Amino acid sequence: MTELIQLEDIRTYFFVRKGWFGRVPLKAVDGVSIDIDERETVAVVGESGSGKTTLGRTAIKLLKPVSGKIIFQGEDVTNNDENIKEFRRQAQIIFQDPFTSLNPHMTIEQIINEPMIVHNIDDEEKKKRRLKALSDVRLLPSEEYLPKYPHMLSGGQRQRVGIARSLVLEPVFIVADEPVSMIDASSRVEILLLLGELQKKYSMGIMYITHDIATAKYFTHNIGVMYAGKIVENGSTLDVLNNPIHPYTSALKEAVPDPDPNNRLRFRNVIPGEPPNPIDPPPGCRFHPRCPCATEKCSKEEPALRDISKRRVACHYAEKFLK
Ligand SMILES: Nc1ncnc2c1ncn2[C@@H]1O[C@H](COP(=O)(O)OP(=O)(O)OP(=O)(O)O)[C@@H](O)[C@H]1O
Ligand SMILES: [Mg+2]
Repeated sequence: MTELIQLEDIRTYFFVRKGWFGRVPLKAVDGVSIDIDERETVAVVGESGSGKTTLGRTAIKLLKPVSGKIIFQGEDVTNNDENIKEFRRQAQIIFQDPFTSLNPHMTIEQIINEPMIVHNIDDEEKKKRRLKALSDVRLLPSEEYLPKYPHMLSGGQRQRVGIARSLVLEPVFIVADEPVSMIDASSRVEILLLLGELQKKYSMGIMYITHDIATAKYFTHNIGVMYAGKIVENGSTLDVLNNPIHPYTSALKEAVPDPDPNNRLRFRNVIPGEPPNPIDPPPGCRFHPRCPCATEKCSKEEPALRDISKRRVACHYAEKFLK
């Protein structure tokens, strides 16, 4: 397989005010390396605040990393904006909230046309692509949806419009940031399966961001588990779901997500404690204060992400958890 996008040791910091100290770095993404091949889908999973959205936005250059490299189709695009317009066409994002990501004053036709106007696509081609995109996301008969406004649609239908909008520019890479967490539970699986279908049909690479590791099984090939700005486990979806090695991955697998999207602490009852403050993460392994298996070594030495059993795991005791 050919690599589509390679993220190499990406660090994305926000500089935030902290009392007398002035501005301090909030290390939202702190040394992440992950590859996505052409036609491959990767789930990025982790609790709220682990840096998933920041990583996804960095990958499509909506945020600039303080260090690290973004290699897109073999080319280092980290600081190179020469072909940014073409990059913006090829790399799209589907947002979490279909209620706020669609302009309520625009019709579906205008919403789907917008990116095509930016990219100077002629009227005939626009018409062809918007009908095709709407039929791809199963909003049929497509003509009937064009004059509607977002408020006339259900949450699931709105997210389908969001997906159609991201498809019309024929991208090769999509970041889908919690695309189903705000919609009705009954439509979630359907929309995830649809994403998987479209990914195959159009040979796209997808970064699927989610707090619910169980949903990765619907269409992803690989999983990267994030904790406090770092990847703690990265491997094939089957391996990671069936036989998690890192104690944090195991805990996420056991977690039953709270269906209430407004509940920011969706795993509180299952994984004791809170994720660390990214301004001041704990020394050693960042998960050690919450890890049931932590030793003194874990509180002192940071574990490297190393190859073990066909995947990468950042845990001093990974061998112990191998089944
Ligand atoms: N624009 C910003 N300015 C300052 N801090 C930010 C900004 N965006 C994100 N952060 C912080 O960076 C950290 C990672 O946030 P991020 O949104 O990437 O996490 P996430 O894993 O996507 O969480 P969620 O599941 O809640 O969406 C958090 O501590 C967050 O508060
Ligand atoms: Mg997020």
